[in-house]
Amino acid sequence: MKRQPRSSPRSAKPRRSVSIVGTGSYAPERVLTNDDLSKMVNTTDEWITTRTGIKERRIAAKDEQTSDMAARAALAAMEQARVEAREIDFILVATTTPDMVFPATACFVQQKIGATRAACLDVSAACAGFLVALQIAEQFITSHTFDTILVIGAEKLTSITNWTDRNSCVLFGDGAGAAILKHRGEGTHGVISTHIGSDGQYADILYMPGGGSRTPITRDNVDQHLATIHMLGREVYKQAVTSMLNASKIVLEQAGLTTDDIACVIPHQANVRIIEAIADRLKIPLSKFFVNLDRYGNTSAAAVAIALDEANRTGRIKHGDYVLMVVFGGGLTWASAIVEW
Ligand code: UT7
Repeated sequence: MKRQPRSSPRSAKPRRSVSIVGTGSYAPERVLTNDDLSKMVNTTDEWITTRTGIKERRIAAKDEQTSDMAARAALAAMEQARVEAREIDFILVATTTPDMVFPATACFVQQKIGATRAACLDVSAACAGFLVALQIAEQFITSHTFDTILVIGAEKLTSITNWTDRNSCVLFGDGAGAAILKHRGEGTHGVISTHIGSDGQYADILYMPGGGSRTPITRDNVDQHLATIHMLGREVYKQAVTSMLNASKIVLEQAGLTTDDIACVIPHQANVRIIEAIADRLKIPLSKFFVNLDRYGNTSAAAVAIALDEANRTGRIKHGDYVLMVVFGGGLTWASAIVEW
């Protein structure tokens, strides 16, 4: 039976069901291992592995842009969904590392995949971006505005990494993931429960101080690494566990499901210890959590999108499964969704 979120907006037309009909992902070729990093900063494979679970990450080539990775992931999702570029009504790109401040990276993706009919928009919600974009897409479909939407999470985080800061540079990687959302007719499987939230009072625990209008990058402040990620790791860790836990409970309650109903949890891929803490507190066995951060590190907005594609393509999630996705990131912003696959 199709469940509707309690927060469904009232509308004259019935709320339409929205399905994820294809996924895709892309990771750049170059691999940077923990041992490689131990030659760059004062760290060890042992420290990174035990504190984060990360073993290696992918690094985009100099001339490989966020939109290039996004387009590769998009084409894979379109192929799986059997959707042509001209059918796409809307492209949403969630990213913290756009090709340029403007125009939107989604416009570059449009150009690269030839989706000439599409409207384009970037979503700025840091690591939570892909699930936030998914929910924006869902609303445009349920409101009968659009039928076919391409949602992408893509990052070239290594372009804003401070390679002299061992506290942060060991965590991040590059990549992209994509999904095609469509209205497939009532009674079909799809997105059944969603939630997003933010708490701006924590804006200064995870942010990039330079490069925006408040502190434009100058010759003087570039040496201070102002255009790189600044993070209070321990504080982010605490907030991550709390916000992802709450966001998970909210979508479960809205969907009328219990943790036993969930076949697979796809969490933000930042630190395996954060995932273990959530598994423990939700009382969901760790074996139900999809984890690939050992191979990619934290790819921010791309992380859950890449994980969703890998879970889909490897058969880890199957038709009829309830899949819980939950993310958090700078802002702070968090998001969660339950999808009947
Ligand atoms: O998408 C959201 C993005 N961010 C996150 O999700 C990050 C959330 N936070 C975390 O994952 C963890 O807090 C970290 C992995 C960042 C850090 O782990 P921690 O267990 O919280 O370590 P810590 O910051 O408390 O540091 C412990 C020690 C410190 O040394 P002292 O002061 O005890 O002597 C650090 O200087 O570990 C040291 N340290 C390192 N040592 C070797 C920090 N980074 C490294 C490193 N290699 N790379």
